Amino acid sequence: MSDGDAVLRAILSRRSVGRVSPDPLPREVVEELVSAAASAPNHHLTGPWRFIVLTGDARREVGDAHARAARRERPDISEEAVEKEARRLERAPVVIVCCVAPGEDPVEAREDRDAVAAAIENLFLAAQARGLGAMWRTGVMVDEPEVRDALGLSPPDEIVGFVYLGRPLGPPPATGPPRGSVSDVTVWRGW
Ligand SMILES: Cc1cc2nc3c(=O)[nH]c(=O)nc-3n(C[C@H](O)[C@H](O)[C@H](O)COP(=O)(O)O)c2cc1C
Repeated sequence: MSDGDAVLRAILSRRSVGRVSPDPLPREVVEELVSAAASAPNHHLTGPWRFIVLTGDARREVGDAHARAARRERPDISEEAVEKEARRLERAPVVIVCCVAPGEDPVEAREDRDAVAAAIENLFLAAQARGLGAMWRTGVMVDEPEVRDALGLSPPDEIVGFVYLGRPLGPPPATGPPRGSVSDVTVWRGW
């Protein structure tokens, strides 16, 4: 298989992997993935991405911040439910919080966020190349002030996604979610 075929096959076979082993990951492997992420295209070379790599107790610190937010948002929440929220980030041994530091100009800010999304896709493909599973999660945590504080984020920086990373617990599903065909999403002109 040519390098080109391998790249295309990786892109077409990529799947989100939610169930991963709790075994820790070597830091150098994660560094390689972050390097791949930071190789994404970005207009004016603003390098708008910021990565906060959580493992071990650092996941719980952010999880505790999310639990405080859950108490504030749902004052009648049970202790059991609070504990479940606090453990959210412990579903994977490594969580990479992918953030954007957007430019002041609105067009640049929009493009900076687009570039971070491209960086996350790079991260996914690099993870797959190293036999790791990855899941992009957002949900309420991306906007919670408690979580932002715990991560040391200040405006205008935003969380684009939490990428959960680990060794897959099983083979990827044989078929992915349904996708539109090329003809469903493409208009051909001048062909
Ligand atoms: C911006 C964005 C946010 C996402 N947030 C979540 C999430 O909060 N929870 C979740 O389970 N999956 C989340 N996903 C993953 C999608 O559900 C997943 O990519 C989709 O089901 C397609 O599956 P695939 O990645 O295997 O192709 C998110 C994906 C993107 C691009």
